[in-house]
Amino acid sequence: MECKRLLGDVAAVTGAASGIGKQIALTFAREGAKVACFDINKAGLDATVAEIAANGGEAIAVEVDQSDSTQVAAAMKKAWDEYGKISILINCAAAINYKPLQDTSDEDWNRIMSINANGYFFCLREVYPYMKKSGGGRIVQFSSSTALSGSGFANIAYTASKAAAIGMSKHAAGLWAKDNIRVNTICPGLTETPITDSGDGKVKDREAHEKAIPLGRIARPEDMADVVLFLVSDESRYITGATIHVNGGKYIYGS
Ligand SMILES: NC(=O)c1ccc[n+]([C@@H]2O[C@H](COP(=O)([O-])OP(=O)(O)OC[C@H]3O[C@@H](n4cnc5c(N)ncnc54)[C@H](O)[C@@H]3O)[C@@H](O)[C@H]2O)c1
Repeated sequence: MECKRLLGDVAAVTGAASGIGKQIALTFAREGAKVACFDINKAGLDATVAEIAANGGEAIAVEVDQSDSTQVAAAMKKAWDEYGKISILINCAAAINYKPLQDTSDEDWNRIMSINANGYFFCLREVYPYMKKSGGGRIVQFSSSTALSGSGFANIAYTASKAAAIGMSKHAAGLWAKDNIRVNTICPGLTETPITDSGDGKVKDREAHEKAIPLGRIARPEDMADVVLFLVSDESRYITGATIHVNGGKYIYGS
């Protein structure tokens, strides 16, 4: 008999229009969860929801700019009104730029921080009452290996926002363990998605990147989605406040 691991769960997944967030939404739906797909990209959201429906799953599109707290509150309410439960939150949406530190304007800094750091905070704050009413839940936040290593290419605001994700996860994990809510962070290494597309559908300097990864290849969205599935399933019931590195062994050599 087929055994679905997330039957009875309702998941809010941010960034579900693209890349890793989309793969997470598809994986959760395959495992029986109802998925509220959050993103600013309506066309991408509609494509994700259509793909889930075509595979026999259940999902809704929730268009939201997560840098705006009013929109995040409305989005979370929409998911609750639709399904009467929210037991999983995946904070995955993010924006990036590649400007060097000295060329980063106040506006550049504020834009990235408002989406990546403020947006995660708004989602955490707004999901909490619903998750409590749902009897508890699991939250996974997306940081990045750059939060720990720094980055030769991603902008300083991106790096800072990804470090913020780790701090927020630990804070919420300590606070909400009593509510049966677990909060963990995943730090992906380079993963092939639109965020790493250098404009021609390819990852820049692919060979050099792959050489520096002990497992010998850039990650695929599925590599992240499968770890997230573990972090929201009962097999990880004793893990909270943890930061999980999924990078093909990149930092074994301190590279
Ligand atoms: N791809 C990588 O190499 C990599 C490495 C480390 C960490 N990450 C992290 O993984 C997560 C997913 O990244 P990805 O590679 O799938 O990127 P992606 O660009 O494919 O997806 C990001 C999604 O965020 C959405 N988004 C952007 N601004 C938004 C806003 N204001 N409100 C709502 N949604 C918004 C975009 O529309 C997009 O659908 C991110 O948090 C990223 O920082 C990615």
